[in-house]
Amino acid sequence: MYTEQSLNTPFDYFPFVKRSLFIILTVLFAACGSDNDDESNLDDELRGIITAQNLTGDPSTDRALPDIEDPKAQLGMKLFFSKSLGGDLDAACVSCHHPMLGGGDALALPIGVDAEVEDLLGPGRLHKTSGEHFDGGPTVPRNSPTTFNIALWDSVLFHDGRVESLGKTPKMIGNDGLGIRTPDVAFGEVDTQAGQDLVEAQARFPVTSNEEMKNFSNFEGTDNTQVRQNLQQRLGNYGAPLGGSLAMNHWLAEFRAGFSAPDGTAEELITFGNITQAIAAYESSQVFVDTPWKAYVEGDDAAISDDAKRGAKLFFDSTDNGGANCSACHSGDFFTDEKFHVIAMAQVGRGKGDGEHGTEDFGRYRETHDETDKYAFRTPSLLNVTVTGPWGHAGGSSTLEQAIRTHLDPQAALDHYDFSELDPSIQTTDMVINTQNAIDKLQANRAAGMASMPELSLTDTQVTELLAFIDTLTDPCVTDLACMSQWVPSADDSDPDGLRIHAIDGNGKHL
Ligand code: HEC
Ligand code: HEC
Repeated sequence: MYTEQSLNTPFDYFPFVKRSLFIILTVLFAACGSDNDDESNLDDELRGIITAQNLTGDPSTDRALPDIEDPKAQLGMKLFFSKSLGGDLDAACVSCHHPMLGGGDALALPIGVDAEVEDLLGPGRLHKTSGEHFDGGPTVPRNSPTTFNIALWDSVLFHDGRVESLGKTPKMIGNDGLGIRTPDVAFGEVDTQAGQDLVEAQARFPVTSNEEMKNFSNFEGTDNTQVRQNLQQRLGNYGAPLGGSLAMNHWLAEFRAGFSAPDGTAEELITFGNITQAIAAYESSQVFVDTPWKAYVEGDDAAISDDAKRGAKLFFDSTDNGGANCSACHSGDFFTDEKFHVIAMAQVGRGKGDGEHGTEDFGRYRETHDETDKYAFRTPSLLNVTVTGPWGHAGGSSTLEQAIRTHLDPQAALDHYDFSELDPSIQTTDMVINTQNAIDKLQANRAAGMASMPELSLTDTQVTELLAFIDTLTDPCVTDLACMSQWVPSADDSDPDGLRIHAIDGNGKHL
C-alpha cells in the first residue's frame, strides 16, 4: 500500500531526495579520499586560511606612495644612478640595487667601491686587486637586499634593523612623536635628522660606508655629517667640498624640476635632506605586488596551480595541522613579521668583525646586546623572492630550495653544504665554524623555550610544493624588461653630471 510503503522508506515519497543524498554522499566520499585533497576542497581550505589570517593579497593598500613619473621620483632615479654620490666617484646606489637585477645585485655579497669595471653589475663584478682592504673577495659583509617594495616596511630596515621606527605609525613620524632610530644615535634614541620615513632615513647611510660608496680617498677621515655636507656641496656646486667640484654639473635645473621650485637656489634645494627625499621617492615608487597569489586571494581560483595551492596550505598551516607554519614569521600580505630570528643560514664572507675570528656577524645582537638576539636576522619579505637570489643575510644560499632546507635542518644544510655553488671569490675560511656557532645558538634558544624555528621534517614533494607556492609571489613586472624600464633612465633622460652608471652584465650586454 502506498502509505505503508512510504512509512517504510520515506525516500519513495520524494525520489529526488534520495538522488541528492546519493550525490552528496558521493561528493563527501570523494572529498575524504585518502590520497589527496580534492581541488575544490583545497580551495575551500585555503580560503578559510586566507580569512583566518586576514589576508587581502595586497600589502600596499592604504599607502600613499609616489609614482615613478612624479618629478621627485624622476630626480631620485637620476641620483640613484649617479656616481657623484660616491666619495671617489666610482659607486652609485644602483651598483648594488639594479631594477633589472631584482632590485639587488645578483651577487652573494656586493662590491661597491673599487670595482674592476665600475659599470659591470652582477656576476663578474670583481674588486680591484689594488683596492683598499682587498682580500680576494667582496669587502661588503652582507647580501644586498632588494629595494622593491621597500616602502612597505613599517618597523625595520637592514638585516639587523638598525634603522627602525620607534613609533606605532612609522609613516607618520612626528604625529606620534616617537620617531626613527638610526646608527647615528644610540639604540632606542630618536635621530632627529632621519627624515620623514624609514626609506629616507636609510638613504643617509650608504654614502658613509667606505666599502659601499665613500671609498678611502676624497672623504677619508670625515664623519657622517661631513660626508653629507661634502656631497650636498659637490652636487650643489657651492662651498669647497673635498675632492673639488664636478667636471659637469646640471643638478640645479634637475632639483628645481624635482621639487617644483623654479627659482630655488642651490643652497636651498640641493641639501642632503632633499637628496635623500628624492632617492626615497624613487625607491618607494618600486611597488611590485601584483602577483598570481594576490589574484588568487582576490578570488581567482585558477590564478595558481594545484601544487602551489598545496604549498600555500603547508606555508600557512600550523605544525599541529600538518603544516610547516612558515607564516609564523613570514606573516601577512607582506610575508614578514619584521622581527628577528635565528635561522643559522650560512655565514660566508668577511663578516662584521664579530666573534673570535672577527668573521662572524652577530646580527640583531649588534644593536640590542641581548644574548638571545645573537645570530638573529630580520625575516625577509618573500614577495619577488624568486628574483632576489642568492639568499640569506650573507647570500650563503645559492638556491631557494637550499634556503628552505636550511630552515628545516640547519645542521644537515651545513654538513652537506656545497661550496662549489658559491662564487669562488667569497671568503669561506671560517664558514663552518661560524655557521656552527649560529646553529648552536639556535639549539640553545630552542632548549630555553625561546620562540624560534622548530625542527621540521618535510618530504621532497612538500618542499617542491612550497617552492611552487613561492613562485606565485613574484610580480610579472619584475621579469619584464619593458615594464621595468620605467625605473631605469632612458637614453633621452638628461645625465646631469655625466657620471651615470650604464649597467652591463658580465657578457657586456646592457641591463
Ligand atoms: C656596495 C653595495 C651597496 C651600495 C652601493 C648601496 N647599497 Fe643599499 N644595501 C647594501 C647592503 C649590503 C645592504 C644591507 C646592509 C645591512 O643590512 O647591514 C643594503 C641595504 C639597503 C636598504 C635596506 C633594505 C632592507 O630591506 O632593509 C636600502 C633601502 C638600500 N640599501 C638603499 C640604498 C641606497 C639608496 C643607496 C645609495 C645611497 C645604496 N643602497 C647603496 C648594498 C649597497
Ligand atoms: C622562525 C621564523 C621563521 C620561520 C618559521 C620561517 N622563516 Fe624563512 N626566514 C626567516 C629569517 C629570519 C630569514 C632570514 C635569515 C637570514 O638572513 O640569515 C628567512 C629567510 C627565508 C628565505 C630567504 C629569503 C631571502 O630573501 O633571503 C626564504 C625563501 C624563506 N625564509 C622561506 C621560508 C619558508 C618556506 C618557511 C617555512 C618552511 C620559512 N621560511 C619559515 C624566518 C623564518
